[in-house]
Amino acid sequence: MSTVVLPGSFDPFTLGHLDLTRRAAALGHQVIIAVSHNPSKQGMLDLPARTGAIEETLQRHDLAGAVTVRTLPRGLLVDFCREVGAGAVVRGLRSQLDLAYEEPMARMNSHLAGIDTLFLLTDAAFSHISSSLVREVHALGGDVSDMLPSASLEALRAAAAVS
Ligand code: PNS
Repeated sequence: MSTVVLPGSFDPFTLGHLDLTRRAAALGHQVIIAVSHNPSKQGMLDLPARTGAIEETLQRHDLAGAVTVRTLPRGLLVDFCREVGAGAVVRGLRSQLDLAYEEPMARMNSHLAGIDTLFLLTDAAFSHISSSLVREVHALGGDVSDMLPSASLEALRAAAAVS
C-alpha cells in the first residue's frame, strides 16, 4: 500500500473533498489529509476546527482506518511528504482553471523531490463546489447544507455562534 498526501486548506472540508478522499482510499492508498495553515486566504474556520471536522467526517463515513489527518507544517509540501513517507500528492481537478493552478505546483514538487501529483477529476455533482464559494454563500446567508459533510456544517455553525 502506498502513502499519498491530500493537502489543502479545507476551509471548510466539502462533499467534493470527501468524495476525493474516498476515491483515493478506494484505489488502495493510505491517505494523509494535510491541513495547511493557509495564511493567504480570508479564512472562516481556524485550524483546530478544520482538522476536527475532517476527523469527525472520516469517523462518520467509516474512513478513519484508511485516512488520517495531520497539520501541514509551515514549509515545503515535499518535505512533509518525505517525512511521512508519501510518494505522491493527490489533488482534485474541477476544471481547466484548476489545472492551470495545479500544473506549476505539480511540476515544482516533481522538480524539487520527484514527488508526483495524482489528479482525480472531481465528480460532476461537486464540480461547482469550492470552499471559497461555500464561505461566501454561507456568509451571505445562503444554504450550504447540501454541499458539506455534517461535521463541517456543525463547525461552521459553531464558528458563527462564537463570532
Ligand atoms: O486548498 P488549497 O489552498 O488550494 O491548497 C494549497 C496547498 C496547501 C496545496 C499549497 O499551498 C501548498 O502546497 N502549500 C505548501 C507550500 C509549498 O510546498 N509550496 C511550494 C509548492 S509548489
